[in-house]
Parts: sequence; C-alpha cells; structure tokens
Amino acid sequence: MIGEKTRNAMNEQIKHEMESFYIYLSMAAYFHAQNLDGMAHWMRCQAHEEMIHAVKFYDHILDRGGVVTLLDLKQIKTSWKKPLEPWLEAYEHEKFITGKIKDITKISREENDYSSEPLLSWFLKEQIEEEKNTEKVSRELAMVENSKEGILMLDRELVARVFTAGSPLDPTAYNVVA
Ligand SMILES: [Fe+2]
Ligand SMILES: [Fe+2]
Repeated sequence: MIGEKTRNAMNEQIKHEMESFYIYLSMAAYFHAQNLDGMAHWMRCQAHEEMIHAVKFYDHILDRGGVVTLLDLKQIKTSWKKPLEPWLEAYEHEKFITGKIKDITKISREENDYSSEPLLSWFLKEQIEEEKNTEKVSRELAMVENSKEGILMLDRELVARVFTAGSPLDPTAYNVVA
C-alpha cells in the first residue's frame, strides 16, 4: 500500500505533468501560428511525453492500492512575443518539475515508501534530459535570435525529433518509454 503523503504528492504530480502537457501543447499552437512547424512538432512530441509521465504516476498509485484524484488544471499561457520566450519558459518549467520530483522523493523516504524509489529514480534521470534539451535549444536560439535564417535553420533541425511511443492510455503502450 502506498504511503498517504506519497500518494497525495503523486496526485499533485499528475496535475503538474498534465499542466506540462497543456503548456507544451499551447507552445505548439504558438509555433504553428508562427510557421515554425519544426518547433511545433518538437513541442507536440514533448506534450505526448508529458501525458505519459502523468499516466506513470496514475498507474503507480493504482498499482499500490491508492486512490487517484484528478485535480483542476490551471489556465496556462497562450501567447509569446518571440520564439525564444517559450523555450526559456520550458527550461524554467522543467527545473520546477525537477524540484517537485525531488520533493516527492523526500516525502516517500520519510514514509519509508521504498517501493516508489524505482519510479522516482526514473523521473530524476528523465528530468536531467528534459532540462538539458530545453536549455540547449534556448541557448542555440539565443545565439541566432536576430537572424531569421538562424531561427529557420533551428526549426528545420527540430522537426527531426522522433517520438514513437503509442498512446499513454493504450494498454500495450504503458511502459514504452522506460
Ligand atoms: Fe514530465
Ligand atoms: Fe517535462
């Protein structure tokens, strides 16, 4: 049985991951509107990945006999002034999420809930990637910020992101991203 405080923190985290999904989907819409379809594609892949993250916590709570409580999502931002802004915000957001994963890890340890450790270790490792990726694009974009050619080049590069995982709600795809 999952610890009560750990369960509450994970229910909160489902909300944070769903808000991440929402944030990246909103950024994708912004990039499409700017004709930056490569960046939009990257954000769509990211949104998909975030929904998988939410379902990982959802499944973990259920697998451990806990009750899943889906909380209200906040209204997120829908417009930005220039392409660099969403990327900087994405990087800041990922650092915020890393902090949340660390908090849950601390709470679960205080409750001696060692069964949550493999999942939380996976997330800690995943957050290193998420921070690294968003920081890298932010830096590259900052380098070419005033060059339309530079922005277009980066956009064409980001279209190459491949994300093959199926729907997070498809029973055969639960653990595709391991
Ligand atoms: Fe996530
Ligand atoms: Fe993320």
